[in-house]
Amino acid sequence: MAQIVLHALVLFLFTFTPARVAEGVTLNVVNFGAQPDGETDSTNAFLSAWGRACSSTTPTTIYVPLGRFSVGKVVFKGPCKNKGITVRIDGALVASSNHDVIGNGGNWLYFDDVDGVAVIGGVLDGQGIGLWECKRSGKICPTGATNLGFSNSNNIVMNGVRSLNSQMFHIVIDRCENVRVEGVKVSAAGNSPNTDGIHVQLSSTVTILNSSIATGDDCISIGPGTTNLWIQNIACGPGHGISVGSLGKELEEAGVENVTVKAVTFAGTENGVNKVSGVEISNIKYQDIHGSSASEVAVKMNCSPKHQCSGISLEDLMLTYETKQALASCNHVGGIASGLVQPNNCF
Ligand SMILES: *[C@@H]1O[C@H](CO)[C@@H](O)[C@H](O)[C@H]1NC(C)=O
Ligand SMILES: *[C@@H]1O[C@H](CO)[C@@H](O)[C@H](O)[C@H]1NC(C)=O
Repeated sequence: MAQIVLHALVLFLFTFTPARVAEGVTLNVVNFGAQPDGETDSTNAFLSAWGRACSSTTPTTIYVPLGRFSVGKVVFKGPCKNKGITVRIDGALVASSNHDVIGNGGNWLYFDDVDGVAVIGGVLDGQGIGLWECKRSGKICPTGATNLGFSNSNNIVMNGVRSLNSQMFHIVIDRCENVRVEGVKVSAAGNSPNTDGIHVQLSSTVTILNSSIATGDDCISIGPGTTNLWIQNIACGPGHGISVGSLGKELEEAGVENVTVKAVTFAGTENGVNKVSGVEISNIKYQDIHGSSASEVAVKMNCSPKHQCSGISLEDLMLTYETKQALASCNHVGGIASGLVQPNNCF
């Protein structure tokens, strides 16, 4: 078992940085046939605009004006000649309310094998409510799609994006290097299944800043093969907190190393399962973590004798449960506590 969970309440007000002014060529998706009426399928317009941007060497902005643009699965496929593509969204991209349309494709808006892409602003509405209901009813339903996924990509920015009601995970960073996520707002109902806010795996040098995440599952889940991850100024909750560990899909998974979690406030709920894992977790720092937990055990670090968690540092941690001090439950964890750490019974 190697999963670390911090869960805990919070109200937070955020101001987001204004969208960056881009240089170079601007391609308005409306000029490629997209319709801001919330109904007309604009998938092909997005693909055409992407094709143009990707094959150009001039920095290019794909501009999505105000309005609701209905799109199916869009794969923004690289490699591109272009190392400076900005997707600037003033309006909203909306998935079909029929969950079968994107529900089997793994991802809804998916960037693969790109370098130097920024997604700025906008609302991404996965319309996942129908699929969550299907899953809760016990019927056979599609697995669901991630709202926004990046795979095999480098030098990625997500700034001021709002991700709503994803069918599954909201944002996934997979096999990427140098990713900056800032001023992002994620929301889904507290009882929505498997709607993790941001999931990172097999990636290095990822920074997640100034964001608020409210979902039915982990706010941020840190999967195997994550190194040099920095998380700061996050309002998390409702949700299951920040978890580190395995997806439990393979027996031997790559470890998780050098993660800093700083200035995070929690409004958490109960965490369900700790998955069995072959993941080694080392050098994780929690600093300035506040909030109140919805369950008595606010800090859960359940590591296995074979894969112990080491180098865990807790500094200025203050988590309460109702009016009392919350508890920690730690197994096979080595590390140090400094400053005021409550609960303080981990090491
Ligand atoms: C993040 O938010 C803090 C406080 O809200 C602000 O001082 C800081 O400038 C923001 N950082 C960035 C990079 O926008
Ligand atoms: C740990 O990660 C941070 C970025 O999150 C990086 O600045 C730092 O150099 C890394 N430390 C080591 C020892 O690799």
